[in-house]
Amino acid sequence: EEEEDEKIYKRYEEIVAKLPTTEGWSGHLIYQYQGFWYNSEVLGAAPLVVQRHFKARPSDILVASTHKCGTTWLKSLTFAVMNRKSHPPSAQHHPLHIFNSHDLVPFWEFNLYNNKNNGNRIPNLDILPSPRLFSTHMPYTSLPESVTLSDSRILYICRNPKDNLVSWWHYVNKFRSILSLEPMKVQEAFEWFSKGMSPMGPFWDHVLGYWKGSSERPQNVLFLNYDEMLAEPALHLKKMAEFMGCPFSSMEEEEEVVDQVIKLCSFENLSNLAVNKNGTTYPGVSNSSYFRQGKVGDSANYLTPEMMEQLDRLTEQKLHGSGLTL
Ligand code: A3P
Repeated sequence: EEEEDEKIYKRYEEIVAKLPTTEGWSGHLIYQYQGFWYNSEVLGAAPLVVQRHFKARPSDILVASTHKCGTTWLKSLTFAVMNRKSHPPSAQHHPLHIFNSHDLVPFWEFNLYNNKNNGNRIPNLDILPSPRLFSTHMPYTSLPESVTLSDSRILYICRNPKDNLVSWWHYVNKFRSILSLEPMKVQEAFEWFSKGMSPMGPFWDHVLGYWKGSSERPQNVLFLNYDEMLAEPALHLKKMAEFMGCPFSSMEEEEEVVDQVIKLCSFENLSNLAVNKNGTTYPGVSNSSYFRQGKVGDSANYLTPEMMEQLDRLTEQKLHGSGLTL
């Protein structure tokens, strides 16, 4: 079986080798697959293996996003809501105090199916108890069919493209410094992003895929907006719990469990924990790099008014007719 798996990875690597590639944002090769840009060095053929080999269960919950849209936060909230009976959010020892949410909610393509760290084995996820909780940055249109055809539920988070770009720019420069590369200028980041060549870009296509998914299958895809969640966390957390099939009871509301989850998962709380100040989840990536500022509108401090205007115009064009504004 092991050899079989190895052959499968090889076969997909051969497919990846034939895809269009270019040098990407961190000096690594990026490849274009089904309209989106993937980091070849980091992911290899993992997204293709996910697509063909993941078997969904109707009870599965998937946290989906593109990079730097609030994934770390949404993972924390989803985990805390789903496990609140066994791990009350007010408990002194909560898993989120000990682990970064990327450890608690693994990515398919970075972790579980990534043959750079799983020894070329397709993971046997059948052994996990239901409900299983996974995450992905893959676009909606490239999700495994078994997910989009089953009753599994997807929580998707997006944010306004200007803040997304600035968040990504800061993050990419952390990587570039680890790789001893010159920092990327904000103008360059703006150009990559506008061309649709940020990680998992084009950003707008990624967002629109899930937006369409959520209008076609509202029971299965919940479309969340980081900016709106920061403004009204309780409202959105209740929506999330309902969507996940575990709504807050009136007793829980009286006991302020909603506020406890919000507090537990707040930027303030999580970013100050030892695990997130000093820990690492992936080799070379410190957990602190997932926490920068956690605010809306910071992009105005970095982008020129012309860049902001151009991005607004581009966003308007791309989202035109979709009913979505960002
Ligand atoms: P900024 O760079 O604008 O601060 P991702 O988790 O998808 O990588 O997104 C990272 C962004 O989410 C960063 O945005 C980060 O600061 C913010 N973030 C991380 N944890 C958060 C939390 N608990 N609450 C709100 N925002 C958070």
